[in-house]
Amino acid sequence: MPAVRSKKVVLQSVKGMHDIMPQDQPLWERLRKVTRDIGEEYNCMRIDTPLVEKAELFERGVGAVSDIVEKQMYMLKTSDGDRLVLRPEFTASIARAYIEHGLSHISQPVKLYYIGPVYRHEQPQEGRFREFYQAGFEIMGGDSDPVHDAQAITLGHRFLEEMKVGKVMIHINSIGCKQCRPFYRKKLIDYYKNQSPCRTCKRRLLINPLRVLDCKEKECEEIKKGAPAMLDSLCSLCKNHFRLVLEYLDELKFSYMLNNYLVRGLDYYSRTVFEFFTEGSDSALGGGGRYDYLLEMLGSKPVPAVGFSLGLERILMVVKARGTVFPARAKPKVFFIHIGDLAKKKSLSLIENLRRSGVHVEESLGRDSLKSQLSVADKGGAQFALIFGQMEAFEESIIIRDLATGAQETVLLAKLAEAMKKRL
Ligand code: HAM
Repeated sequence: MPAVRSKKVVLQSVKGMHDIMPQDQPLWERLRKVTRDIGEEYNCMRIDTPLVEKAELFERGVGAVSDIVEKQMYMLKTSDGDRLVLRPEFTASIARAYIEHGLSHISQPVKLYYIGPVYRHEQPQEGRFREFYQAGFEIMGGDSDPVHDAQAITLGHRFLEEMKVGKVMIHINSIGCKQCRPFYRKKLIDYYKNQSPCRTCKRRLLINPLRVLDCKEKECEEIKKGAPAMLDSLCSLCKNHFRLVLEYLDELKFSYMLNNYLVRGLDYYSRTVFEFFTEGSDSALGGGGRYDYLLEMLGSKPVPAVGFSLGLERILMVVKARGTVFPARAKPKVFFIHIGDLAKKKSLSLIENLRRSGVHVEESLGRDSLKSQLSVADKGGAQFALIFGQMEAFEESIIIRDLATGAQETVLLAKLAEAMKKRL
């Protein structure tokens, strides 16, 4: 990455954070558009929350012993001693906003969507950054109907289809509820008592046992193979809930894989958890699940909810690797050329009026020679040149030149916008 030099110090962007350069903007624009279009098509409302939240929100919501809260939050020091953090994810913020703004009083469920950056102080590597963008969808309120789990998955699936990432594979599991999870946790701990997992997993077994299931250490991968499966320990309500979710996915003809090890890194989940993958990508493009206890943990009455977030940089990496090209914004077909001081003086307001009338114009007002302006017009592939010289400036007119045929016509400035719209 090229660096910005000031005297001696070479300034670069912060580790794990990146600029989104103009050449990547068409892809980012596509991501923003797909987020907006899908949000609107599925009747979701857009929500934006602050980048900065109280640390307590994530300690209570995501879980004080989760990796995100224990190791990855960017803490801010303020002079008045507030414990603030850069948001490491959106869901807890959206839940806070739902409670704070009384969204339980409008028709339920409330469907919300969002897009923006989040911050996690992780070790940067391929597809893992410290600042990255998420787009997400949350369905909050109503009851814990499995149709909403399936609808959340449908939204994510559709998003990835629209981004042309290739065949989408859903990994899915159920991690049960307050009733059945403690039994499973005990079974898991009993099984691990006779094993020798890595040091981190020994600690996990004491504070957050389910997390041993997503350990990637070699010795733990082997141990996991013999571990009891959560699905065998679900209570009848959770079993039924999960069966219905899968039946909806079957109806939708989605490809999914039951993954006993999928527990996810955030503590607020209950019942359905899922992640999206595609061929050629080892890391999840997105993930989410049901979180029926989160709002209660944040102080509200119980509000069942389900949602997911997608990692936009990871989706972009797949899109780029597949060589998919999305159309960039069309280049202007009209190039404005000024000749002489008087014309230049009048040019800025003239171009401004054209733009406000809906004519997409390019110019190079910083260049005064005709030759250099024509060369910029040529590179941009303009179809028409508007030539505004000293005489035209006096006569309140302008020359429209068709750059392909060389044909020219002089029109009054008052008629210019109309004349151009006819030609374009
Ligand atoms: P998450 O699994 O932590 O879930 O993040 C969602 C997605 O963000 C991941 O699947 C991945 O694509 C991307 N991601 C995560 N960490 C990084 C990173 N360091 N660098 C680049 N991309 C990353 C959540 O954040 C939940 N809030 C999802 C959710 C919404 N659950 C319910 N509603």
